[in-house]
Amino acid sequence: MGDGVIGNTLGFGPNVEGSSPSPPANNEMSISGVILAAGKGKRMKSSLPKVLHNVLGIPMIDYAQEAIGHFESKYVVVGHQSEKVSSTLLESFIPVIQKEQLGTGHAISTLLESSEFDSDQSQYLVVIPGDVPLIRKDDLDKLVNDVIANEAAIGLITAKVQNPFGYGRIVKNNEEFEKIIEESDANETEKQINEINSGIYCIDINFLNSNIGSLESSNNQKEFYLTDLINIAFQNNLERVIVQVNEDSIQGINSMSQLNDVENTLRKELIEFHMENGVYFQDPNSTYIDKSVKIASGTRILANCHLTGTTNIEKDCVIGPNSIINDSKIGEGSVVQFSVIDEAEIKGKATIGPYAHLRKGSILDENVKVGAFAETKNSKIGKGSKVPHLAYVGDAELEEDVNFSAGAITVNYDGKEKHKTEIKKNAFVGSDTMLVAPVTIGEGAMVGAGSVITKDVPPGALGIERNDQKNIEGYMNRKHKKGKK
Ligand code: UD1
Ligand code: CA
Repeated sequence: MGDGVIGNTLGFGPNVEGSSPSPPANNEMSISGVILAAGKGKRMKSSLPKVLHNVLGIPMIDYAQEAIGHFESKYVVVGHQSEKVSSTLLESFIPVIQKEQLGTGHAISTLLESSEFDSDQSQYLVVIPGDVPLIRKDDLDKLVNDVIANEAAIGLITAKVQNPFGYGRIVKNNEEFEKIIEESDANETEKQINEINSGIYCIDINFLNSNIGSLESSNNQKEFYLTDLINIAFQNNLERVIVQVNEDSIQGINSMSQLNDVENTLRKELIEFHMENGVYFQDPNSTYIDKSVKIASGTRILANCHLTGTTNIEKDCVIGPNSIINDSKIGEGSVVQFSVIDEAEIKGKATIGPYAHLRKGSILDENVKVGAFAETKNSKIGKGSKVPHLAYVGDAELEEDVNFSAGAITVNYDGKEKHKTEIKKNAFVGSDTMLVAPVTIGEGAMVGAGSVITKDVPPGALGIERNDQKNIEGYMNRKHKKGKK
């Protein structure tokens, strides 16, 4: 996985789809990128830093890293819980600590003053917030290209929105882009403006260096606003560029409710992507898939499935309804019904469930059946073997064509340590048996139903451990006669 390519190697979704056919004009220009992520994210009301909340299974900030991953030098301004945020960054992203959050302008001056930042190296700085996962790479490319083409001092992405409340408004004076006014500083007329600032900019670094020092905090929030650079450019008759995009692609996340909105939008796009690749979804509304999950064509995902982590589902499987699969591989042609599978590997043509639980380290060869109310953990199950019902297979190795009957279990734990059970080819483990590990059942051997097996069973032998059955003739008749008296 190269730098800036996050989570999924499929490259699904908005950052790839529909990118403009013309190559960016910024080939020979050197560009730095910075993600602003120092804020606390108060409105999330969560102890986790805002940018570390997951969106489709990966932290919000990974989307920002993906968006600017292709730029030469990349920075992240961190502050609130800076160590935690820094520790999740890709190697090529350099964290710059902003100790006090005195505003977006202050965040950028902290970057410029940082010893990590070499302002001679790049001509432009792209600034994006860490909380806008829907951001599209082709919008960013367009912004950069327009700024370069117009030799602008600054450019930004805007959108016309239904409800502009809370955003900085784009103030124009006779069609001339004059300034951005923040919600808390806006007058009634300005509040009516429905074109808003996305917080995504491309700025000429010379312009930035010469003017960042003149930002003032004489506003209602007593913050240094990066947005004031627009008015500085206007005053100096320098080009300002606007790239207007669709409202949806700049939706920021400030609250749990917005997190849910954005996640729903991205989930829809992700399921669309899989559908285009030939995956059937019975009910997209009840299907939850992480961005990192792979699904091959011909597979059918039925209602109520959660597919997470590094899960990789091969061709022609039927998954669900009602299954949870995490960090697992499901091989071609398998069927999984009403089951929970975690960190398991299934080779193919398996039948799982209903109501099976495959836990960490379950490795199933081809044509294996793990059926109703069976649980497996840290076990290998060989080709064609069956654990059809009511069983526990833990720390075991079953070779090919083993039958592990209903109610049989491996007794793998003595209260202190785990022990291994080995069951060789073609062995038959009868119902309701306990295999007290460590123990080996030899090739082709049989274990009689109801046995507690504590010693190895040799190949081809019958291992049986139970009292001989006693039949008491005429017992029921005598009992019933007694009852009549
Ligand atoms: C900002 C813009 C507003 C725009 C909106 C889009 C300013 C003054 N206003 O407002 O015009 O419509 O974004 O969402 O820029 N941050 C730091 N250090 C700081 C302050 C902020 O790193 O000192 C980071 C935050 O973590 C966040 C981003 O900068 O990722 C934006 O800051 P925030 O306080 O949310 O700005 P808004 O009020 O939303
Ligand atoms: Ca914000």
